[in-house]
Amino acid sequence: MSILVLHGPNLNMLGQREPEIYGATTLEQINTALLKRAAEVGLVLSCFQSNHEGALIDMIQQKGWTADGIIINPGALTHYGLALRDALAMIKAPIVEVHISNVYQREEFRHKSVIAPVATGQIAGLGWRGYLLALEWMISRTS
Ligand code: DQA
Repeated sequence: MSILVLHGPNLNMLGQREPEIYGATTLEQINTALLKRAAEVGLVLSCFQSNHEGALIDMIQQKGWTADGIIINPGALTHYGLALRDALAMIKAPIVEVHISNVYQREEFRHKSVIAPVATGQIAGLGWRGYLLALEWMISRTS
């Protein structure tokens, strides 16, 4: 079983970026925790971050079609990334949308996700551990 983890714009800055909102954990630490958990249960997991919508779409077209699940934090593309949404809409495998912050407690523009209608589910507001919870859900589907 293989899982693709995608991180959108500005998530490479985690740890330095508005730590009062996003915490002190870096993207590398998140990816390391996900890879460790995947290895424990014998899953193949790959992580990719880009600040460019097209690069995320290229990765979905390249690896998303054969993945058994996608975990994605689309960053601000969540709120307007229609091409990203269309790329995800073609995927048959489950998709979990993750947000570190509780977007519904924040500015109005963050309350709308154009990704949510094509995702299986969403985790928001549980910090970086939301990614791990998404992975646990993917793992639970296999047993
Ligand atoms: C985010 C929330 C988005 O609104 C924001 O643009 C991000 C991060 C989150 O993880 O909380 O870049 O997706």
